[in-house]
Amino acid sequence: MISFSSGFCTFRICYLAFFIGAKKMSEPKIAQKFPYKEAVVSDKSYYWCRCGQSSKQPFCDGSHEGTDFLPEKVTFEENKEVYFCGCKNSSNGAFCDGTHKNL
Ligand code: FES
Repeated sequence: MISFSSGFCTFRICYLAFFIGAKKMSEPKIAQKFPYKEAVVSDKSYYWCRCGQSSKQPFCDGSHEGTDFLPEKVTFEENKEVYFCGCKNSSNGAFCDGTHKNL
């Protein structure tokens, strides 16, 4: 085991203090464990809720205020139906990638 001493701070104590003091990244709230199917129109901006606290899922209502999260702006080139992520854990941002099946 590596251990050295410098004044009052040994390597092991400083290493532990670093991780205790490190800020933990927030986890989003799971709004639901399946996607939201929405009809979208071209040339309109949509703000997908990333924090999971919005009451207007899957879109932002400003509830992220004071959290580490910001909504994701998405636009479309055509009118179509889209599956927005409801679990807030997709690796594909605003869009469902099936991750909810493993939660
Ligand atoms: S609802 Fe989040 S990945 Fe499907």
